Amino acid sequence: MLLLLLIAVLTAVAAFLLFKFATVVDGDLTLVSRGPPRRDRVDGKVVWITGASRGIGEVLAMQFANLGAKLILSARTKDELERVKKNILSKNPDSRVEVLPMDLSAGEESLKEVVHVAESFFSNAGVDYMIHNAAFERPKRGALEESEEGLKATLNVNVFGTITLTRLLAPYMLDRGTGHFVVMSSAAGKVPAPGQAIYSASKHALNGYFASLRSEKREKRVSVERCVELTIIAATHGLKEAWISYQVGAKRLDAAAKKGNTYSWNLIFGSKKSA
Ligand SMILES: NC(=O)c1ccc[n+]([C@@H]2O[C@H](COP(=O)([O-])OP(=O)(O)OC[C@H]3O[C@@H](n4cnc5c(N)ncnc54)[C@H](OP(=O)(O)O)[C@@H]3O)[C@@H](O)[C@H]2O)c1
Repeated sequence: MLLLLLIAVLTAVAAFLLFKFATVVDGDLTLVSRGPPRRDRVDGKVVWITGASRGIGEVLAMQFANLGAKLILSARTKDELERVKKNILSKNPDSRVEVLPMDLSAGEESLKEVVHVAESFFSNAGVDYMIHNAAFERPKRGALEESEEGLKATLNVNVFGTITLTRLLAPYMLDRGTGHFVVMSSAAGKVPAPGQAIYSASKHALNGYFASLRSEKREKRVSVERCVELTIIAATHGLKEAWISYQVGAKRLDAAAKKGNTYSWNLIFGSKKSA
């Protein structure tokens, strides 16, 4: 009888939590279970945000400033970045904010220069958090109707620019032994997005790249966040996805170096030693 009562209570509690999750919660359970952003992780740190001239990037900049971060704001439109900076300083007069205009599609040489400048700000402090937020999104169009020009425009910014910036910045972080990439993906990077096939392809590409990078580099303590719902909370808590590829990343690299099977079950469960 007591057992039945216990089961009934637990079922009611589970049903209540499920109901709350379905109706109230606006992020995944890992994310919402972490509480508010951790100021201690970001206070005084250098946070570089691309796409900071409007939208999510602008709000991210304001919230990071509220948490005491030193900011580098990037996008193509300098006037808009100056507006965002002015707005931040009007609310947080002690904030340290640098404006660094750049075009993610400008190619490696140009991005190299931009990375060099970003690293030199705040007395050569170096970038602690790189927030890859900028993106190019075309008007909705059928997957077969997209032109080569549209394909290149999207991939140049969302994929080539973002990955190149990462390749150029990561060595500085590795030298310092610390650094954090935050990538704004999208639901379109997870599930089909009718009318947004190229944008969706670009986000899938980013997810693939950063999941692989994270898998490779975790041994060196540079954590790489890939997420759809990533927000400043996830960033400041350092959340990671619990993927098998993440768990076995280092072993996979070893297997690849030895030209072994990088998808072997042995990477997860270990292999029996032959007699
Ligand atoms: N809004 C949503 O509902 C939503 C949903 C899922 C995911 N996301 C993702 O969240 C991020 C922000 O979205 P959002 O809606 O806030 O974007 P947005 O309002 O369209 O802003 C895009 C930002 O990227 C910058 N940008 C565009 N092309 C650039 C280039 N070639 N080089 C450098 N910067 C460039 C823009 O500034 P300039 O034009 O001045 O360069 C702007 O600051 C994106 O990655 C997006 O895919 C958004």
